[in-house]
Amino acid sequence: MNAPAKPNSFRSGPDERGRFGIYGGRFVAETLMPLILDLEKAYADAKADPAYAAEMAGYLTHYVGRPSPLYFAERLTEHLGGAKIYLKREELNHTGSHKVNNVLGQILLARRMGKKRIIAETGAGQHGVATATLCARFGLECIVYMGAVDVARQASNVFRMKMLGATVVPVQSGAKTLKDAMNEALRDWVTNVGSTFYCIGTVAGPHPYPGMVRDFQSIIGRETREQMQEAEGRLPDSLIACVGGGSNAIGLFHPFLDDPSVEIYGVEAAGHGLTHLHAASIAGGRAGVLHGNRTYLLMDDDGQIQEGHSISAGLDYPGIGPEHSWLSDVGRVTYLSATDDEALEAFQLLSKVEGIIPALECAHALAKVKDLAPTKPKDHIMVMNLSGRGDKDVPQVAEILGTKL
Ligand SMILES: Cc1ncc(COP(=O)(O)O)c(C=O)c1O
Repeated sequence: MNAPAKPNSFRSGPDERGRFGIYGGRFVAETLMPLILDLEKAYADAKADPAYAAEMAGYLTHYVGRPSPLYFAERLTEHLGGAKIYLKREELNHTGSHKVNNVLGQILLARRMGKKRIIAETGAGQHGVATATLCARFGLECIVYMGAVDVARQASNVFRMKMLGATVVPVQSGAKTLKDAMNEALRDWVTNVGSTFYCIGTVAGPHPYPGMVRDFQSIIGRETREQMQEAEGRLPDSLIACVGGGSNAIGLFHPFLDDPSVEIYGVEAAGHGLTHLHAASIAGGRAGVLHGNRTYLLMDDDGQIQEGHSISAGLDYPGIGPEHSWLSDVGRVTYLSATDDEALEAFQLLSKVEGIIPALECAHALAKVKDLAPTKPKDHIMVMNLSGRGDKDVPQVAEILGTKL
């Protein structure tokens, strides 16, 4: 196959058909098409309206708590003995992860569109908690679809969503994880077309979601640029983030894509290993169509979607956002993967060395910081996105480590 042509800018997608190269697009049922077109128009209008930007900025500051700090991890840097490591502290946002940046944008859009019923899918529960939180804040009905397996392994987040007034619907189909929750949410959306806004939690789904969610998450990278100028007076040399669907990663990466001096790494979940059970769609998948877009997916020889596996409920999606598929093909971003064991080790390292308990999701990125940082010179500046805090994972990790709580 010929390598795809390099564009003049890596930041100009998606095109008018919602494509990033051959990925993305809009593969949906006829009944959904009018809704998707409504959403596309509402988002284009909102983007051009300074009142929407001002409303977002107000809530981001006073409700979410932005800007999140860019923290020099001095002890981790000493411990690894190479690159100077900074952590972008998205775990300090209200609700404990980056997910709230996107949910705020979508909920303010739903309000502009007059929608009163919000549905969402969730894996680890962080997107569900963020959606339930903002629905509570704005008095909207909230229904969260969650695989029954995830309901069990993220029990504290299920309780949080219920406290916030949301209805959590355990999904019993398939592997009972994130993919199945998204199927169910799409089914609900087709059925309740008039009243309902579907708040997607990552840069996946039909156009305009991948580009729109990326825009909301790009605040991570924009702040990082400014904060790095202030701290070091220059751009970082490398960026690294974990990839489930890819929203925290693209949020950090996007503002830097046209800076050729910045190396960029995404980290997928290698689960038990790339030849066993994993969720690394780029490393171990191929192009196909799922959830309304074309992208790299885990598929068997007959083209059936395979179940993803990861220790982390937020990373076991068998696909990846279409922009990442394109960025991988054109060679702008390097995608690595970390196993469950590597993530577990990194989870414990950050806790002990920096006093920060990370989410298991971003512990995957940290595992690759552990590999990469020692290979870099001391004047190399590396930024890792700390996408969430590990409170939700403490019971699961305790069980794995054989501690009864
Ligand atoms: C803390 C955290 N990081 C990362 C992810 C993965 O999602 P994404 O790849 O869209 O950032 C999740 C998903 O639940 C999460 O909770």
